[in-house]
Amino acid sequence: MNKFFLSILLITGLVSCENSAQKQPFSPGELWLDNNGAHINAHGGGIMFNDGKYYWFGEHKTEGEGGNMANVGVHCYSSKDLINWFDEGVALSVDPKGSESQIEKGCILERPKVIYNTKTKKYVMWFHLEPKDGGYTGALSGVAVSDNATGPYKFIKAGRANAGYWPLNVTERHKTGPIPSEGQYYGGGSLPDHPDTLNILARDMKGGQMARDMNLFVDDDGKAYHIYSSEDNSTLHIALLSDDYTEHSGTYTRAFLGRFMEAPAMFKKDGKYYLMMSGCTGWSPNQARSAVADEILGEWKELGDPCIGDSTKTTFHSQSTFILPVQGQKGKFIYMGDRWRPQDAIDGRYIWLPVEFEGERFVIRWRDSWTLDDIK
Ligand code: GAL
Repeated sequence: MNKFFLSILLITGLVSCENSAQKQPFSPGELWLDNNGAHINAHGGGIMFNDGKYYWFGEHKTEGEGGNMANVGVHCYSSKDLINWFDEGVALSVDPKGSESQIEKGCILERPKVIYNTKTKKYVMWFHLEPKDGGYTGALSGVAVSDNATGPYKFIKAGRANAGYWPLNVTERHKTGPIPSEGQYYGGGSLPDHPDTLNILARDMKGGQMARDMNLFVDDDGKAYHIYSSEDNSTLHIALLSDDYTEHSGTYTRAFLGRFMEAPAMFKKDGKYYLMMSGCTGWSPNQARSAVADEILGEWKELGDPCIGDSTKTTFHSQSTFILPVQGQKGKFIYMGDRWRPQDAIDGRYIWLPVEFEGERFVIRWRDSWTLDDIK
């Protein structure tokens, strides 16, 4: 072959290689490498878009089963294209062993999310916190703040939610009904027919409501909400935060009573609010759930499992963690889920899939590989 022709081929090849690098697809479930060639370590995460960049925050897991505990903290990555991620390091570090801090190494620190407050110009992180050696009994909400997107974040406090406040949709039954004892755990399926006969809400009214799986959502008017599995996971709460986003405001509502919704991920499209959620089966995946509402504080209407073709009814072997609006592409959203590896936590995988809309509901289909152009 003539040298000139060969070099033309090579050059063309190189050019098309570059193009394909830019168009690199999402490959759900595969290892996803950062700029250093390490598998991204941001589990149970969420993404904040700020100043032209996406920032992905998530649980920094370590090897083995013990790696589900918070041994390091919250990791942050940044990207302009959602494919190539730059390791920004640990945004919130846990405190050393023996420090007696609420976020001492070995605590459980899950599902961290960050939002930016345009008034205070602070980045505010919320997470589910279980202080060390207490199992999952704490059900606390932790808050940390930073002047920079990537941190370092300073831990401010952790506590129960909305202490001293009844929800907007409290009933007489809550205020006057019998109260169950503290510390009794009611797992999925073990509730009585009417969940409110248990009245965990009233039990926790003074000391504050439990919050485990959680998410944050900032509405178009700048108001931010904390969405969390409460009342021993049995009922979801949607709570308005203070103007600076660092506290609960006391305004909140209950939704999906006795449905044990976990892993809530909220988004808004054409004025409607949507939620994707899971059932409550620990690290094992279960069938997804979805819901829609005209007002963020409800009424919420369940829309069923949004996953199409998910024959094993396991959310394509994942659990929701966030629904990401693609910037500059109105109406395009990405489902972000975790495929947990509880025996080797650091090896958990990310399942990202396009969100599509059919009638009043949203749906998610499996794809081995896809690009943003595939989102209709
Ligand atoms: C899941 C929850 C995870 C983690 C896990 C622990 O249900 O979504 O965030 O808490 O349980 O078993």
